Amino acid sequence: MSQTPLAKLENLTKDFVQGQTTVQVLKGIDLSVYHGDFTVIMGSSGSGKSTLLHILGCLDRPTTGTYILDGKPVDGLSDRRLSAIRNSYIGFVFQEFNLLPEATVYENIMLPFVYADLDISASRKRVLAAAEDVGLSNRLAHKPAALSGGERQRVAIARALAVRPRLILADEPTGNLDSQNSREILFLFEKLHRSGATIVLVTHDTEVARAARRTLFMRDGMLETP
Ligand SMILES: Nc1ncnc2c1ncn2[C@@H]1O[C@H](COP(=O)(O)OP(=O)(O)OP(=O)(O)O)[C@@H](O)[C@H]1O
Ligand SMILES: [Mg+2]
Repeated sequence: MSQTPLAKLENLTKDFVQGQTTVQVLKGIDLSVYHGDFTVIMGSSGSGKSTLLHILGCLDRPTTGTYILDGKPVDGLSDRRLSAIRNSYIGFVFQEFNLLPEATVYENIMLPFVYADLDISASRKRVLAAAEDVGLSNRLAHKPAALSGGERQRVAIARALAVRPRLILADEPTGNLDSQNSREILFLFEKLHRSGATIVLVTHDTEVARAARRTLFMRDGMLETP
């Protein structure tokens, strides 16, 4: 069955200027992500994995090359359009959870709706459903400090899911977790995958990588299939 990729990168490069020197971090990336894919990207530190994920998530722009998201070119869009796309298409999960320490679990998951065009009762329903999906319905009034690392990451995943993103991007989501909590988070990503989510996940953990349908290796700014 031929299918249009949800995200398609063609000959993508990214340079960073550091003082007098320009470092080419991505050196010609070609990548197609299809609906329902679970893609893992591995590779040594500094090889450009996070840079690639940031571009996929419209948090950063490529230097050259094209990025087509859901059939539409992303290049050349204004910052405002780009952040609108980010808010409606992308769910981000980071290694450091990025939760607001003073806010409850409920409030943390509600955060993306501050910017969304959705009324409060619809937002509330989505937050409760996302909390249920990650098994945190009984922790809604807790603050992050009262949760385990795995629970904190589940809050971050619920926050990413609540907006019903077309693409879930996770950068080392188990990097700060012990093996038991890592396994829980891994099961959760597998469950999301089975329910139809499209996931691109960066990891150093071979156990996490085994869960994926395909694993790509970033080496010196280029992607290799094993
Ligand atoms: N904003 C930036 N300005 C300058 N250089 C940057 C910037 N972001 C990343 N780099 C450089 O780009 C290279 C790739 O960084 P990146 O964070 O993508 O690597 P990574 O593969 O995610 O590494 P890790 O596994 O350690 O997270 C590094 O050499 C880094 O110093
Ligand atoms: Mg990184």
